[in-house]
Amino acid sequence: MDITTHERLLIIDFGSQVTQLIARRLRELHVYCEIHPFQNVTDAFLAEFAPKAVILSGGPASVIDADSPRPPATVFDLDVPILGICYGQQVMMEVLGGKVESGHGTAEFGRAFVTPTAARLDLLHGWFANEKEQVWMSHGDHVAKIAPGFEVFGTSPNAPFAVTADTSRHFYAVQFHPEVHHTPNGAKLYENFVRIAGFTGDWTMGAYREQAIETIREQVGQKQVICALSGGVDSSVAAALLHEAIGDQLTCVFVDHGLLRLNEADEVVTMFRDHMNLKVIHADETELFLGELDGVSDPETKRKIIGRLFIDVFQKYANEIDGAEFLAQGTLYPDVIESVSFSGGPSVTIKSHHNVGGLPAKMGLKLVEPLRELFKDEVRALGVELGLPASFIGRHPFPGPGLAIRCPGEITREKLEILRKADAVYIDQIRKHGLYDEIWQAFVAILPVRTVGVMGDGRTYDFACALRAVTSVDGMTADYYPFSHEFLGETATRIINEVQGINRVTYDITSKPPGTIEWE
Ligand code: XMP
Repeated sequence: MDITTHERLLIIDFGSQVTQLIARRLRELHVYCEIHPFQNVTDAFLAEFAPKAVILSGGPASVIDADSPRPPATVFDLDVPILGICYGQQVMMEVLGGKVESGHGTAEFGRAFVTPTAARLDLLHGWFANEKEQVWMSHGDHVAKIAPGFEVFGTSPNAPFAVTADTSRHFYAVQFHPEVHHTPNGAKLYENFVRIAGFTGDWTMGAYREQAIETIREQVGQKQVICALSGGVDSSVAAALLHEAIGDQLTCVFVDHGLLRLNEADEVVTMFRDHMNLKVIHADETELFLGELDGVSDPETKRKIIGRLFIDVFQKYANEIDGAEFLAQGTLYPDVIESVSFSGGPSVTIKSHHNVGGLPAKMGLKLVEPLRELFKDEVRALGVELGLPASFIGRHPFPGPGLAIRCPGEITREKLEILRKADAVYIDQIRKHGLYDEIWQAFVAILPVRTVGVMGDGRTYDFACALRAVTSVDGMTADYYPFSHEFLGETATRIINEVQGINRVTYDITSKPPGTIEWE
């Protein structure tokens, strides 16, 4: 048995910025779906994938252009329900015999309201309790004539064909984006669509776990697998899943670069080795990393050094494991989509990210990636399913280069020690006030500056630190967390009283952009 035994929905991607959100909405409904760029969807692919329903995404192109993207004609002969969204709607109309025209005052961007026509449509079940529904539009072209067999079920001021359908074939086409937040009742459309298509909602983490275990066993056989365990959610869940599948054939290497938080290395190693019985090698290479970082203050140089050493160290330990043929990685579905998306061009490098997924192909190991189909929140759910403590699964993200990038300027052992203590007090404060889960990420950065203070009757000349706490959905954009003044005051007092070496505390209120979440 493998993953293909789930009921499957196919999303054909025409390059919309929000295609991933369609997949999110469907996964929330326990429907397994995959996003594939239109040019990869050949007849052979369709036959093998055998979708139970198809969604055509939005996209930036204009169907009026001769070389604009099209779905394969055979999609419409599959005899399964199809939903076209925005560009997907227009391409459906054009291909099935309707007509699309461009702009001329009928472009719509942003909020619009759809009102129903007299006829009722199963796709709109639960809509129009308030006569009209807010939707999110983003289109320059519009449908001028609907295809034969289609009827209109909803209109908006600038989209007379906001909702159309050929009910005999279960073909649906909407001009707006039901997947975005600004279409408040959009989820109902997806709910209706998958019900119409007959999905039973068989995509659950329990079912996934069983199948993933079988797939791993089939792939790996009796061979040995190594895994770079960072203590982050992805590598931890991947390791726990692999351990359940292949037990002692898995060896984890925990590369300790000496840039972890207070007690973190011990906690991770104890949990996996002692409580979960995984084979974990604790590669304590603090001396090596801190030695090479000595005197380095440029952020990119720090990142490059840490990335390079991480690979060297991992390879050294991996070479000692007899007969290792596979390398496990916690690759997630968004990474997989990124790498195939036809619209995703190279963007400017702001920071060269380092994570355990970056191990080189030249190691000559085959990859096992048991989380490739999952989104981040599904990985968390799987982690809980596998028995990892919820407090561990819900931890804030922690960057691969660790405290190095929270220590602007030169890294010294003294600064790291102060930083660890201050960070522990800050997180303790956040937890005590019940704020931890409201915050995407919180940490302390130790600043490369000493300031004058007075404690007791004496003068102090110690480090200043900055507290950071942000809210975010995906780390791409972020806002600072609006702590109360009482909280900030209490935290500053605690840090200065409890952490020797800090005599001034500031709070960073920069959003991202223009700031980044980390200081380097
Ligand atoms: P920035 O600072 O770029 O961070 O706004 C966005 C998110 O990414 C994390 N981050 C990293 N994660 N390796 C990682 O695995 C890295 O090199 C890295 N740099 C930043 C950061 O903590 C935040 O969650």
